[in-house]
Amino acid sequence: MSKVAIVMGSANDWEIMQQAARQLQDFGVSFDARVISAHRAPDLLFEYIAESIATGVQCFIAGAGGAAHLAGVIAGKTTLPVLGVPIPSKYLKGMDSLLSIVQMPKGIPVATFAIGEAGAANAGLFAVSMLALGDVQLAQKLVEYRKQQAQAIAETTLPSCSKE
Ligand code: RP5
Repeated sequence: MSKVAIVMGSANDWEIMQQAARQLQDFGVSFDARVISAHRAPDLLFEYIAESIATGVQCFIAGAGGAAHLAGVIAGKTTLPVLGVPIPSKYLKGMDSLLSIVQMPKGIPVATFAIGEAGAANAGLFAVSMLALGDVQLAQKLVEYRKQQAQAIAETTLPSCSKE
């Protein structure tokens, strides 16, 4: 049984979405990752959502680019949390994806993350945070992860100025 379902609209989105998968993997959270487009394969998407809910998935992470309706469609089919990741697009650089995901009309929320790799990684970390609410060991791993980041910053030194 997977705790998190990662869905993306195209195999081309995997380069970004693997950052979400990597975070879940690092924290030992089970996940399933699929390419299912909301407009190219809507029936398959509905089947997958129903199957995921039935098998006990706790949240969805959805990545899509352009007129990115994937996260919103998933949110319309489940009351589980849906985390949306805007994928960078060729002409509008992901602004279209961001606005499509973040501007959900009132009543069907999608938690929206930053465009690209940082957003995907943070969606993974946010899923870990949600799951950690009911898992003390996972919560402790998150605390350690934050400590490591703080330590890395504290140990950062800058090179001295070059003489001119
Ligand atoms: C969306 O269309 C996908 O999420 C992808 O980001 C975008 C372009 O898809 P491809 O043409 O790269 O398959 O559905």
